Formats: sequence, structure tokens, C-alpha cells
Amino acid sequence: VVLVVDFGAQYAQLIARRVREARVYSEIVPSSMPVAEMLAKNPKAIILSGGPSSVYAEGAPRLDRALFEAGVPVFGMCYGFQLMATTLGGTVDDNGAREYGRTPLTVSKQGSTLFEGTPAEQSVWMSHGDACSAAPEGFTVTASTDVVPVAAFENDEKKLYGVQYHPEVLHSTHGQQILEHFLYRGAGIEPTWTTHNVVEEQVALIREQVGTKRAICGLSGGVDSAVAAALVQKAIGSQLTCVYVDHGLMRKGETEQVEKDFVAATGANLKVVDAQERFLNALAGVSDPEEKRKIIGREFIRVFEQAQLEILQEDGPEVAFLVQGTLYPDVVESGGGTGTANIKSHHNVGGLPDDIEFELVEPLRKLFKDEVRMVGQELGLPDEIVQRQPFPGPGLGIRIVGEVTKERLDLLREADAIAREELTAAGLDREIWQCPVVLLADVRSVGVQGDGRTYGHPIVLRPVSSEDAMTADWTRMPYDVLAKISTRITNEVADVNRVVLDVTSKPPGTIEWE
Ligand code: XMP
Repeated sequence: VVLVVDFGAQYAQLIARRVREARVYSEIVPSSMPVAEMLAKNPKAIILSGGPSSVYAEGAPRLDRALFEAGVPVFGMCYGFQLMATTLGGTVDDNGAREYGRTPLTVSKQGSTLFEGTPAEQSVWMSHGDACSAAPEGFTVTASTDVVPVAAFENDEKKLYGVQYHPEVLHSTHGQQILEHFLYRGAGIEPTWTTHNVVEEQVALIREQVGTKRAICGLSGGVDSAVAAALVQKAIGSQLTCVYVDHGLMRKGETEQVEKDFVAATGANLKVVDAQERFLNALAGVSDPEEKRKIIGREFIRVFEQAQLEILQEDGPEVAFLVQGTLYPDVVESGGGTGTANIKSHHNVGGLPDDIEFELVEPLRKLFKDEVRMVGQELGLPDEIVQRQPFPGPGLGIRIVGEVTKERLDLLREADAIAREELTAAGLDREIWQCPVVLLADVRSVGVQGDGRTYGHPIVLRPVSSEDAMTADWTRMPYDVLAKISTRITNEVADVNRVVLDVTSKPPGTIEWE
């Protein structure tokens, strides 16, 4: 394992991903972890991330010198670089030598371990206030900028390396190459890690954890739960039962996708609960978005727990495990705890016995999203599931502005299916993060179709581009694709006589309308 020591901000996750892209397994540890504990993990190398502090700030995270004396190769980036410099006797000044953003870097030592084979002038991403003016003894300065005399250094003998910039961001044009040089040349690590190993390893671990007991898994139709379920299915076969709640708010073909494609690909036991009536009844007369979300969430838990209860009552070994598709970013963001947590089911709402406790099985908790997709592919799940764009849990219920009824859902399903079909045909699925299709059910406008006046509803297209859904921009889609979608929706979907495009970024607009 390569450890990425997290000094705050969001850099550590990105670095860990880049290391894995270099086919080397990485894990993130907090900078507060004692060095002895880090070394006990037998890391093949350690990377020190950037962070928001100044090394001079009071209470700024520090590092025990022992980390550099253990014979483990270390690569410091940005804050990690400055810490390395000050800890080992170099000089870092707070002299106003700030650099932010894209910066030209001059490589001053050709053939260095990190910069071998990269251009003498390259663009790097800087974000720092303090600057290193003298490298520690025994180190060679390998690069500089107009502002910073020591922008990179290395001590090949001790296998210690550092750069002032952020090689992990794409704006650093040779960043990935430099990271790989550290891993392969500096630390002598072979690039052998693949998601293939993950499948084998997880299958063995799950078998050990679950033993002869049974497990259940909720399927949402999304990527994470499908891949987690498929992985557990591969490990324990018929000891797993998957539960899918059909709340009637899914898009066209999605329930069938789970019922047929998922089962065909995995052979899993699937219990589909048809709860459409129940959800429609609960949503009758409700237009307020928050109220809709609450109702859908509440009903979902009730139905899911009822299904659990039924499975618990079936003959067979004890049902002791609940499978969840938790991903590595969730784990890191929630404090990165190790070990398996026990959760108590919400017995107060669904009528489960008080003493039911499930142990969690979370086979994806070390993986990033793109890796989860790779694992899904390896497990033979169809692209329609593995490459699926994000879709909200409350489904089409929050894409009908106004009351949710069966007729409106059917209408929206048709319009949405047309938009998805045309976006796929135009090859835009990867470029577009997601494209909510929204029915303004309480709005009517006048139109003309054939020889007659119409008085129908508008459909909104909301194509967005995003990296993480926290911010988003509306996608500048080709007009001819928009035209085709508009023509088809107004021709093919009864009661819709107008298609409009949402050209709002996030913020101020959210991606969904409700
Ligand atoms: P907003 O509308 O907040 O959406 O900009 C951000 C992302 O989250 C998705 N989304 C949800 N996903 N349950 C989910 O699983 C929800 O209740 C929910 N609401 C929004 C949305 O589709 C977008 O990708």
C-alpha cells in the first residue's frame, strides 16, 4: 500500500485516485495518525498531501521526523513539501512569494528521478503563500519558478522527494508522469494493482465475513448498490436476497432492467415489491417538494422493512448481514473509520423486532466511483447499469412540478425516454452529467397542432455538465439534437405542446427542480 497523508482540503482524495490510476493501491490516512501507526501498515511509499495551512500557522499540522528516517520513500506535495523542508532543516519563508494557479516551472536538473523525460519548461498548478528558499542538506534542487527558487528537490539516496506544486491536478501538464516516476523509479513499486484483484479479494473477504448466514441488499437501480450486490452474489450466491422496491417513480424500462438484466447477469435472488399504489396514495394531493421527499423516504423505509421482515421469516439460516454500496469518498469524508459498524434498523417505523441488528457488508468502501464501474464491468453487469448517470432516489416524483399522479408519471416517462434515447444516439451520454426532464404539471400554454388549438403542458430539459454535482453548468448541446428531442416530444407525447431548455448554472439553480 501507498499511504497518502491527508493534511486537509480535498487534495488527498485526488492524489489517492491518481496513484491508483498508476495501478498502485493507495489509502488515505489522517495527518494526526502517529508515525509508528503509519509505518505499522508497511507502506511501500508515503505521499504527503497539500493542505490549507501555512507551516508557520499556530496549530498547523506537523510531522514526526521519524517518518523521514524509516527508509520508506516519501513524496511531499505543496504543504507536504514545505513540511518536509522545514522538518529536515531547509528554509521556508513567509516572504510574500505567493503563487496561485497555472505557473511556468523550469526544471533545473535534467535527468532527475522525478523529472526524467519531461520538458525543461512545463506548466504546473501552484497554490501557496510561503516559499522554500533553501533545500535541506543532502538535497538537490531540481526545479524553480520566477518567484520560488526551490520549487522541487530530491535526495535520491534517502528516497525523499518534494514539489511545491500540485502534480495531482490536470493543470500540471506532466503531473501524472512525475507521480509515476516517484512510484516506479523512486520507490521501485511495480504497477500491478487492478480492479480484477479487488473482485477476488472481496469475494474471499465476504465469504469469510458472512459464513453460512444470510444477507440482504436493497437495490435502487443505481450503480453502487447493483455492483455491491453483484459482488456479494458472486461470493455467497443464494445466501443473498436482493430487495427492489418498485415505487412507480422510476423511468421507463428501469424496473425491467433490474428485474431482467441484473438477474440475468448475476443470477441473484430478487424480491420485487410492487408498491406503486401505496406511493401514489401517499402522494395524492401533495405538491410541496419537501413534503413529497419526506413521504417518499418514509414509505420507502416502510416497504423495505416489510420485505426484510418477510425474508427474516422464511426458513433458512439467520439473516445477519445488510449489504450497502458505500464508496471510499463517503468513508473518508465521514472520518475514515475502519472496521465494520453495526447499524440498528429503523424498527420504530417498520415493525421489525427491536433486537434485530444487521452487520454491514460494504465491499466497495475502498473504491472510487470509476473503479466501481470497472468492477461492475468485470462482474458482467450491462452498460445500462454500470454507466448509469445519477438519478435521485425520489425519482420522477420530484420531476413533476405539482401533484404526482399516474397519468402525469406516464406522460413524463414517455418524454424522458425520448430525451434519453436521442442523447444516447447523439453520443452525448459521457459529456452530459445528467439531464433531468421535468414536467410543469400545473402550467399550461396555448399551442397549435394540426388545425386545432391546444392547451398543454411544457416539458423542461435540464442538461448539465458537472464533476461532482456540487456545482454544475448547463450543457451547450448541439441545436439539432435539441430540435429532434423537441419535435419528437411534442409529436409523440399527448398533452405536451412545448419544450423549453433550462439555461441556469448551479448555483443559483439546483440540478433538480424540486
Ligand atoms: P441538486 O438538485 O441538489 O442535485 O443539485 C444534486 C445531485 O443529487 C441528485 N439528487 C438526489 N439523489 N436522492 C438521491 O439519491 C435525492 O433525494 C436526491 N436529490 C437530488 C441529483 O439528481 C443530482 O445528481
